[in-house]
Amino acid sequence: MGSRDDDGQNAEGQGYAADINSIREAQARIAPYVHKTPILSSTSINAIAGKQLFFKCECFQKAGAFKIRGASNSIFALDDIQAAKGVVTHSSGNHAAAVALAAKLRGIPAYIVIPENAPACKVENVNRYGGQVIWSDVTMESRESTAKKVQEETGAILIHPFNDKYTISGQGTVCLELLEQVPEIDTIIVPISGGGLISGVALAAKAINPSIRVLAAEPKGADDSAQSKAAGRIIKLPATNTIADGLRAFLGDLTWPVVRDLVDDVIVVDDNAIVDAMKMCYETLKVAVEPSGAIGLAAALSDEFKESSVWHESSKIGIIVSGGNVDLRVLWESLCK
Ligand SMILES: Cc1ncc(COP(=O)(O)O)c(C=O)c1O
Repeated sequence: MGSRDDDGQNAEGQGYAADINSIREAQARIAPYVHKTPILSSTSINAIAGKQLFFKCECFQKAGAFKIRGASNSIFALDDIQAAKGVVTHSSGNHAAAVALAAKLRGIPAYIVIPENAPACKVENVNRYGGQVIWSDVTMESRESTAKKVQEETGAILIHPFNDKYTISGQGTVCLELLEQVPEIDTIIVPISGGGLISGVALAAKAINPSIRVLAAEPKGADDSAQSKAAGRIIKLPATNTIADGLRAFLGDLTWPVVRDLVDDVIVVDDNAIVDAMKMCYETLKVAVEPSGAIGLAAALSDEFKESSVWHESSKIGIIVSGGNVDLRVLWESLCK
């Protein structure tokens, strides 16, 4: 098990944090710890979309989201001396559960900093996988300083949810799998938040076939990536407002260059479209998705996409259904609206 180096550059020095080699390495490293998730398709959804859609169902992944890919790649890349002191993260959502599970599989402690207002189901997920919950105040400063304190006291290594080459490489394995399962795919739609998932997907897809289009799906109430692409620099919003609780982070300095150069476009959808797509996933695909996981379908069905040149040029579209961890009360309330 080789140790991590943290220079943030790839071997060829292209300036991107990861590349096809680090993604292939990740695939070999994490194979024992993750599921190869199935692809679903539906003739009735294809009829509505006017295209063939292939749903890569990471909602069936261990811990219910793609996040175990990046977390297990990061954690199993540590050497034994680094790993012995454990790992820490200050992200409370799917990444937290994934870090707790990957650390459990490695047999090391996981310290998960959670803000005191976090929903009970998120805390339960961390507890379920044996993570040690450390409470912080709700502000990002408090979360970061609490995680730093844990690092200083324990020597634990910080596992970043997206701005890290091992995380990005791990997330990219979902694209390797998708293209092994459906090699004819010409367009991939990926939910975007901090950009770890789409960076891994874009780096893998473009290395395998540069003509594959990679599109981001982003909620209107947290459309910092669309704004960043338009402005040519990272834009951080003063506040976010969306039902897609996994999509409220902003791009980092390692994910931004990939999003800037390799993501062909960002499709922005509102929360109503996300809820409609969720309903379609439950009723037609029969899969339990969370709002952040349904946004790719919402984007595929949006007028913005259907009016774009990419829609006309696409025929087989991969959609990353990124997660299925939904608070049942939130689900019930949104589906009943
Ligand atoms: C279900 C789900 N989908 C997509 C994302 C976005 O991933 P990234 O931050 O790597 O862009 C997240 C992030 O938490 C998520 O939980």
